[in-house]
Amino acid sequence: MTVIKVDIPEKSYNIAIAPGSLEQLGAQMQHLKLGKKVLLVSNPMIFKHYGLRAIASLENAGFQVIHYNLPPGERYKTLNSIQKLYDIALENRLERSSTMVALGGGVIGDMTGFAAATWLRGINVVQIPTSLLAMVDSAIGGKTGVNHPQGKNLIGAFHQPSLVLIDPQVLKTLPTAEFRAGMAEVIKYGVIWDTELFTQLEASKHLDQLRYIKSDLIDTILTHSCQAKADVVSQDEKESGLRAILNYGHTIGHAVESLTNYRMFKHGEAVGIGMVAAGQIAVELGMWTNTDTKRQNTLIKKANLPTQVPDTVDIEQLINALQLDKKVKSGKVRFVLPTAIGKVTVTDEVPTDVIKKVIRNS
Ligand code: GLY
Repeated sequence: MTVIKVDIPEKSYNIAIAPGSLEQLGAQMQHLKLGKKVLLVSNPMIFKHYGLRAIASLENAGFQVIHYNLPPGERYKTLNSIQKLYDIALENRLERSSTMVALGGGVIGDMTGFAAATWLRGINVVQIPTSLLAMVDSAIGGKTGVNHPQGKNLIGAFHQPSLVLIDPQVLKTLPTAEFRAGMAEVIKYGVIWDTELFTQLEASKHLDQLRYIKSDLIDTILTHSCQAKADVVSQDEKESGLRAILNYGHTIGHAVESLTNYRMFKHGEAVGIGMVAAGQIAVELGMWTNTDTKRQNTLIKKANLPTQVPDTVDIEQLINALQLDKKVKSGKVRFVLPTAIGKVTVTDEVPTDVIKKVIRNS
């Protein structure tokens, strides 16, 4: 088992990665000295595949398990769903020492984390991510929350999990489009943090489908991405500085997602488009080489991710949408721009005409 520590004062925790680790969930949680009551939250599809195995492992370790399935999909990432979890928590008398276990992708993880952050002012949460994106990104680092009708993730809290348990075997049931979307975040870590990961991705013929990727590379992808996220979050839990680099590709990515009403692209696909644009902006500003931006774009294409802002997106609307981003500070749009493979810088000095030029030529 590979164990990566997220080192945050008073709330450090482990990311445990191993094929078949789902069966060890109960044993892993026993070490954490948590109360007996567990509320396992999933969605019907994921529960059908993995729910009973998770429950059996927990019960064998002496936990008393209640489970609840929320409907699948981003459109249920709402306060209504959280209310449902509070009702179940109340009915079953969840206590301060109790634990919510999130078994699912980013939506389940974010909602369960938020319910755990707020129930009784905060109870334990354990994350068992089942999508690539959740494994390498959203399950780690404590960002939890739900959407407001006017915008994604506007309601939330930082609440670190007690454990993140990753079983790569569950990726087998992940739809290919979801796998590719997760790969965008993996490529992101290669560009912003980890040259070794980047070159390993370059060496692989395929990045678009799990079945074509060697299991060694899957190990590398998971361990290096989780280590990158753990390193960053350990240094800056609440995004007062360094953590902002994780938003590479997200500035234009979020604007494209919102202008296409979250229907045209998965989050990871929009991040792919955003990384290509950010790379080109860095080239225009003389910060990054043409060669490296091409290397990045080759990986994005190899993962079969989109690379262009669609023509249907109006450029003036895109510029306006950038202003609405959560990352805007004193009216200035913040960009994360690469300066080398494995290195980025954060700037709010990107001239609007450079953004327009890059989008027009994309
Ligand atoms: N997904 C970006 C972060 O966790 O900060």
